[in-house]
Amino acid sequence: MRDIRIHSNPSLLAQAVAEFFVNNATKTISDLGTYIVLLSGGSTPREVYRRLAENPFRDRLDWKSIYLFWGDERCVPPESADSNYRMVRECLIDKVPIPASNVFRIKGELTAENAASQYEKDIREFFMKIRGNANEIPRFDLVLLGIGQDGHTASIFPGSPAINEGSKLVMAVEHDQPPPPLLPRVTATPPLINVGTQVVFLVTGKAKAERVNQVIMGSYQPERFPAQIVNPKSGRLTWFLDQAAADCLP
Ligand code: 6PG
Repeated sequence: MRDIRIHSNPSLLAQAVAEFFVNNATKTISDLGTYIVLLSGGSTPREVYRRLAENPFRDRLDWKSIYLFWGDERCVPPESADSNYRMVRECLIDKVPIPASNVFRIKGELTAENAASQYEKDIREFFMKIRGNANEIPRFDLVLLGIGQDGHTASIFPGSPAINEGSKLVMAVEHDQPPPPLLPRVTATPPLINVGTQVVFLVTGKAKAERVNQVIMGSYQPERFPAQIVNPKSGRLTWFLDQAAADCLP
């Protein structure tokens, strides 16, 4: 199940993703009582987070029933300019009435290994408590992802051992090649991403157009284009692209 939605510019795209988020959250909360999200870092989703923090979207969301996790983090303290947590805190968390106990950041101040094992524990314990599924892989209601120009997603970079990880939900990775920041990272793995109920790629800009076409239309080469590992088992994959990022699609 794959859906490609193209909007003429980044602003209209952000509006569409915010609308998608509100509709999906409203339906999920009415069905399950909670909405559990795995957020993307990077710069592209900032505009979506900012819109969710403002009306008409802000007051349409039941923030006490929304739970935020991250799909990846750089191993830096939470106040670092490189922190994905800090980016979301500034664009969204500080502006909405979400309880602090609903926000589960990856502890970037720890070593990557310790942060990853702690985060896997946090995720498993949370889903056990809130959704009661002890043996299954925790199913996020929404997994929000970006793509790098090199074809990475989350912090699963070309050639990374994370590409073939089949059991861990979260793992520590080294990252010493561009794109910056060249820092140890913690990333969600294919097993966690691919059980998501709604998996959404959000991509803008001409610089990514060729990569987007390769990932969607090209032959399966996940070592080169790790974003190709995203293939939800039973969930739905939706690409939200602006016209520039969709420019190379047939
Ligand atoms: C990160 C992100 C990463 C991001 C892509 C695209 O930690 O950097 O999670 O996977 O989604 O690198 O980044 P931009 O949105 O900044 O282009």
